[in-house]
Order: sequence, then C-alpha cells, then structure tokens
Amino acid sequence: REKTVIAPHLLEWYDRHARVLPWRMPPGTGTGDPYRVWLSEVMLQQTTVAAVKAYFTRFTTLWPRVEDLAAAEDAAVMAEWAGLGYYARARNLLACARKVSESGGFPDTREGLGVLPGIGPYTSAAIAAIAFDRPETVVDGNVERVVSRLFAVETPMPGAKPILRDLADTLTPDTRPGDFAQAMMDLGATICTPRNPACGICPLVHDCKARALGIAADLPRKAPK
Ligand code: ADE
Repeated sequence: REKTVIAPHLLEWYDRHARVLPWRMPPGTGTGDPYRVWLSEVMLQQTTVAAVKAYFTRFTTLWPRVEDLAAAEDAAVMAEWAGLGYYARARNLLACARKVSESGGFPDTREGLGVLPGIGPYTSAAIAAIAFDRPETVVDGNVERVVSRLFAVETPMPGAKPILRDLADTLTPDTRPGDFAQAMMDLGATICTPRNPACGICPLVHDCKARALGIAADLPRKAPK
C-alpha cells in the first residue's frame, strides 16, 4: 500500500476537531464497544448524524448490551425504531443482535461481519475499522467526494466509484484506521462539503490536486443526463 502524508495530516486535524458523537470514542483512545459501533452504523445507513443521535441514546439506555437487545420484544424494538424508517433495517437489527448474542460476541473481521443480517460491504468495513482497528477502507458519499478532490478525478460518477475506492485504499493507514475512517467522514461533512468547500481551513489543502487546479467545488463530476 502506497504511503502518503495524507493520513498523518488528517489524524492530526481529527485529534483537535473530531465531532463529539454519542457512539464515538475520543480520538486516539482506542476502539470502544463493537455493539455501539454496529448500532450507530446501522442507524446511519439511511439517516443523518443529527437525526440518529437521539435514537442511539434511547436504544443504548434501554438496551446497553447486544444481549439486552437480543432479548427484547420485537414490538418494543419496532416501536423505538419508529421514525427512522426502513423497517427491514429494524428486523435485520434484531436478527443480527440475536445471532451475535448466541455466538458470544461480534466477529472481528470484515469477512465475519459481512455475513450477518443487515451488514453489507460498507457497514462491515466500517465496524472492522472503527471497532477493531482493522486497516479497512470505508467509502461513503462523503469519502468519494474527498478522494475525487484530493486526486482531481474528473471521471464522472457513478463510473468513478471503483477508481475512487482504489485511490481511497492507498490512503488507509495501518495505525489508527478507525480514526482515519471517521476523520474522512468528518472532513467531508464539515469542510470538504458538496458546495462551497472550506478549503481555507482544510488540513489537506496542500495535498489536494483539485484545489491546486481551482476545481475543488466542481468535483466529483456527474455524467450529464
Ligand atoms: N456516518 C456513518 N458512520 C459515521 C461515523 N462513524 N461518524 C460520522 N459519520 C458517520
């Protein structure tokens, strides 16, 4: 894996500016509880960070451990899920909690996580990186945008997806990959935004090819309709 200066620059920024979120460990303090990481990532699949916060706090107050959630009544979990939408996610959530509880805990690899109900390629990589510090690359829409700009990828979306994934892979560090994954998400959510990116305060401004070319706000490009 190609090593760059990007991960150290980004982690230094994350140490100072990481968003404080109820499922998150403070930067540099290790990996935390896989149950909380899993629950937050499933809730975040189609719902914003702002909306998930209250649901996450409520779920973990009612059911502090995966065994507690596994033992809950289906109807009680569905009732607490109301408002998050996509009820198939709540059914998968319970099925997953029961499997994990029966097998004595969460698997600690992307491959092991990926076969559980409701855990696809994105979520398995996110849990492996954030909960187990595996050097997995976590690519969501925010990360695609950040990477398209860092490398000035002009290929339109969605065709650029595999290119962006391969480039993202070259950035993932062997130390603190979980913090790195969350730092990429925070950078995309707060600085490297779709419109009017705040390049003036970006920790990667000197590493960004799109910024040097003056095209950061134009990327990622979309195929014309
Ligand atoms: N979106 C999905 N997972 C996230 C995380 N761990 N932190 C911030 N935003 C996210």
